[in-house]
Amino acid sequence: MTSTDMKTLKAGLLLLSFAFSVLCDDVYVYQNIVECQYSKEDLSDMVYMVKLVFNQKLLCSYDSRLGKYVGYDEYGTVNADYYNSQIWKVKQRRDELFTICKADARYYANSTTRKVPPVVIIRSNEKARHGQLTVLECNAYDFYPQPINISWLIDGEEVTDNVISTEAMENGDWSFQKRSYLELKLRRGVRVSCRVEHSGLERALVSHWVALLWPLLEHISTTKVINITVGSLLSPYTETSFHLRGDWI
Ligand SMILES: *[C@@H]1O[C@H](CO)[C@@H](O)[C@H](O)[C@H]1NC(C)=O
Ligand SMILES: *[C@@H]1O[C@H](CO)[C@@H](O)[C@H](O)[C@H]1NC(C)=O
Ligand SMILES: *[C@@H]1O[C@H](CO)[C@@H](O)[C@H](O)[C@H]1NC(C)=O
Repeated sequence: MTSTDMKTLKAGLLLLSFAFSVLCDDVYVYQNIVECQYSKEDLSDMVYMVKLVFNQKLLCSYDSRLGKYVGYDEYGTVNADYYNSQIWKVKQRRDELFTICKADARYYANSTTRKVPPVVIIRSNEKARHGQLTVLECNAYDFYPQPINISWLIDGEEVTDNVISTEAMENGDWSFQKRSYLELKLRRGVRVSCRVEHSGLERALVSHWVALLWPLLEHISTTKVINITVGSLLSPYTETSFHLRGDWI
């Protein structure tokens, strides 16, 4: 379930959840959680789950792939067996794969076309100087959905040697981030750029690493990040970055 161009909708619906207090400091929470998960446009891999949770412990769950309840401890198993013996209940759960999950997924399908373009920053791992081996990092973050391409260009030509990229990482808030690293010797007059392609961008976003005047201005704070629009400004800082959101170049 982690293919990069998969579209995943994880719809969790809290049907029933209540807490009651016996003593002031004892709180019990019982949850009945309904989940529909799928990744295919035609909903053919839809999975419907109903989870019974008590104080954060999963007791038993219905799983549409099994077509029945399964228990996870003694009490959960007793419950699962009881639910499974109720023919009408099992039939109802089977129907809910269609009446709840697939019906809702069709209804909410457009929300999965949500697109948030990445913010892109390029920076060096340390004080970058011309002629020295440097690692540049291109960091794309806060984007959705997951599929993204990050590539490096030297004077407009894509390079693949000495490039390492992370997987796109999920932040848990419907956004992803991905980093790519390029190791190279910076040379004066050579333009290094990071190109990001994402469905939230109208066109590929190309951010340029800016030439540095590092040795001249060693006394100036190197931690400051300055915002520059695309261009060829000379920056006195090593921690130079482009901070762009939206379609560009
Ligand atoms: C989803 O989007 C399509 C095309 O953008 C539109 O025709 C359709 O009415 C939308 N469906 C819902 C339920 O909003
Ligand atoms: C990434 O690159 C591949 C191969 O060129 C392309 O098929 C795909 O559409 C690209 N993905 C994005 C999000 O632009
Ligand atoms: C960079 O831009 C952001 C948003 O445009 C702004 O909030 C921030 O203060 C800027 N930082 C600097 C150092 O100018």
